[in-house]
Amino acid sequence: MHDLDFGRLPRHVAIIMDGNGRWAKQRLRNRIFGHEEGTSSVREVVKCCLDFNIPYLTLYAFSKENWQRPESEVKALWRLLMRFLKQEMQEMLEKGVRYRHLGDEEDIPGEALDLIRDAVARTARADRLVLGLAINYGGRQEIARAARLFAEDVLKGKARPGDLSPEVLGRYLFTADLPDPDLMIRTGGERRVSNFLPWQLTYSELYFTEVLWPDFRREHFIEALHDYQNRERRFGRTSEQVQEESR
Ligand code: IPE
Ligand code: IPE
Ligand code: MG
Repeated sequence: MHDLDFGRLPRHVAIIMDGNGRWAKQRLRNRIFGHEEGTSSVREVVKCCLDFNIPYLTLYAFSKENWQRPESEVKALWRLLMRFLKQEMQEMLEKGVRYRHLGDEEDIPGEALDLIRDAVARTARADRLVLGLAINYGGRQEIARAARLFAEDVLKGKARPGDLSPEVLGRYLFTADLPDPDLMIRTGGERRVSNFLPWQLTYSELYFTEVLWPDFRREHFIEALHDYQNRERRFGRTSEQVQEESR
């Protein structure tokens, strides 16, 4: 369990925190209870990243599609998010956690947006862990937005259509200065990406676990890291080439 190779840890871990509703249902409680319990798993993975010196963690907290849920659940999710940001601020600052918001600002309730902006601003100088929160985030929307911003720069004469490359478009994404995730974990048993970082996950290692998010603990995180370390990341090359280079 503890024979992790600390020289080969992912730099950036992205997580789809799924299974809160089912976790609550198993306990005959309402879905909100599951979301509440999920915040302890958030604390746990943040702590793991700090302990292992993993410098980037991105969490999928609220998708564009999640607006379609019952209004009471949507409201509860925003309330919980606000509570989390308020309660954790001091500790995050002390631990060196820097918040980063990934997602559209429009549509986010004013009070929540103020808190998100405040969290980003107050932690701007923290340097141990960049904690990306994907809130009101949709991957296709992000790519369309990047294309729109690029087109606007073309109209302003700041860019030329012929300049557009993956690198250039990447600079218009929310993740502009972040490395791509090396490892993407999805809890809750579903094997899909659900509009989470489709551009950035192009070459990420994907890890799916049946564990429901509120149950996700350090041991599960370590299990995912182990699995990651057993993968050979070839990026299109042959296994022989990769092994030659790592020698
Ligand atoms: C993930 O858990 C939390 C959010 C989407 C905000 P779910 O609420 O999707 O839980 P399940 O998938 O219904 O169990
Ligand atoms: C993905 O979970 C969104 C978040 C974890 C925030 P969902 O539970 O909303 O995904 P689908 O709808 O089952 O694909
Ligand atoms: Mg779900």
